[in-house]
Amino acid sequence: MNKQLILSPSALSCDFSHLGDDVRRAEEAGVEYLHLDVMDGVFVPNISFGPCVISSLRGASGLVFDVHLMITDPIRYIPQFIKAGADIITIHVEATDDPAAALRAIRDAGVRCCISIKPATPTETILPYLSMLDMVLVMSVEPGFGGQKFMPDTLEHVRKLVRLRSELGLDYDIEIDGGINRDNIKQAVDAGVNVVVAGSAIFGKPDIAEAVRELREAAV
Ligand code: DX5
Ligand code: ZN
Repeated sequence: MNKQLILSPSALSCDFSHLGDDVRRAEEAGVEYLHLDVMDGVFVPNISFGPCVISSLRGASGLVFDVHLMITDPIRYIPQFIKAGADIITIHVEATDDPAAALRAIRDAGVRCCISIKPATPTETILPYLSMLDMVLVMSVEPGFGGQKFMPDTLEHVRKLVRLRSELGLDYDIEIDGGINRDNIKQAVDAGVNVVVAGSAIFGKPDIAEAVRELREAAV
């Protein structure tokens, strides 16, 4: 199966004093998604931003909003993120006792649902949910911070998910998040990823358009 590459730059690497301008630049450079990392200081040892920032950006951008919830018991806040303008919502399988209920809450609202696994979580943990999903997010760093080093072993999750997708006759996208840059993007794409998050490699660069171009070139 050959899915087209989708870039999802992570706003976490923006200078928040000109967040809107950076997002506009990425949109003009032709990225498809905007990755929005929500952290609660409990599920991960960091705090980022919540629905009000997403809702403000919604008025300024036509990108697909790819909201990555790194929060405990995500079902509590799903309605707020939907109202804020999320197009895709990712929850972590490790963050809740009832992932299926959270996924249903997302899907029933007409929003695309996705589940994420941390590097050390066995791929099999998400087997029961695969048929409900629009996308699976494989973390290629420990969640919590931008700018970390890519963990190549996490591509094993990707390969397993590709196999499972064809064995089960499913069609979910596979997204990778953490430490992706022009030196390793091709490895990830070759393993079977079709949605790529990049924070430092896009918003961390002085020329966003050039960074987007370089990543796309490096992916083939
Ligand atoms: C980490 C976040 C990532 C991060 C990616 O917890 O989920 O989305 O911002 O940033 P880079 O690409 O710099 O690793
Ligand atoms: Zn993320």
